Amino acid sequence: MKILIHKEKRQIVDGREHIVGDEMQYAVTDLARDQDTKYGRIAKEDLTKPSGSVILTKDTKKEFILLDADYIDIYKRLRKLPQTIPLKDIGLIIGETGINHESTVVDSGLGSGALAISLARIAKHVTSYEIREDHIAVSQENIKSIGLTNITVKHKSIYDGIDEKNVDLITFDLPEPWKAVPHASLSLAVGGWLVSYSPSIIQANDFAAEIQKDERFLLVKTVEIIERLWETEGRKVRPKSTGIGHSGFLTFVRKIKS
Ligand SMILES: C[S@@+](CC[C@H](N)C(=O)[O-])C[C@H]1O[C@@H](n2cnc3c(N)ncnc32)[C@H](O)[C@@H]1O
Repeated sequence: MKILIHKEKRQIVDGREHIVGDEMQYAVTDLARDQDTKYGRIAKEDLTKPSGSVILTKDTKKEFILLDADYIDIYKRLRKLPQTIPLKDIGLIIGETGINHESTVVDSGLGSGALAISLARIAKHVTSYEIREDHIAVSQENIKSIGLTNITVKHKSIYDGIDEKNVDLITFDLPEPWKAVPHASLSLAVGGWLVSYSPSIIQANDFAAEIQKDERFLLVKTVEIIERLWETEGRKVRPKSTGIGHSGFLTFVRKIKS
């Protein structure tokens, strides 16, 4: 895949030109055909130029930068089902739990696979439980597109048990996460993490109440990450009036006893 960035969406800061935003990007998947953009057509011969090349639309001579697509370019274009966990929350899960290439992870529900994929990019192996076949089909397509081979998908309710043992991280993105707490308690390694993501604070609170019944768990914190976008154009620097939307609450739990 190649990425085309329309070069006229730019700002000047201290006399230097910066390209801003990604709303002017096009993903090119078929390099054998000319690419149409709203600014004009780009010749297929130009699409095979080296990453970083400046190329022009055929008739209108509008400038684009051509880039080789990276992991994140592909990730952002995966098919996302409603209520997919956003990157700001995924980032905190990875940062707070410190998972690495030796970690084994259990995730549920899989949904479109956004979290499972992001964790599998870093961890040794991810097993994800999902009850809906249509969601499994979407996520399998996404896993294939991104080229990861270390994700096992299980068509099973996580409320019925977790088969994996000695797990370093378990993630829940479930309607009733408290139902799977006893299974997580048996499945996690001592020192391992359980992170539950819930859109409602009532769910987060009920989950925390269940955690507090089990002395093997330490309830570390519940947080909401608020991402505030800013406009930075020359000396016009101010928060954007749009952008702060609620996604969910993250509850971090650590297993401290066997
Ligand atoms: C909000 S989505 C998960 C989104 C996912 N974390 C992502 O990053 O795309 C919740 C998913 O949990 C699944 N689910 C609900 N109950 C479940 C259960 N008992 N076991 C496994 N999956 C379940 C749903 O079918 C749905 O796909």
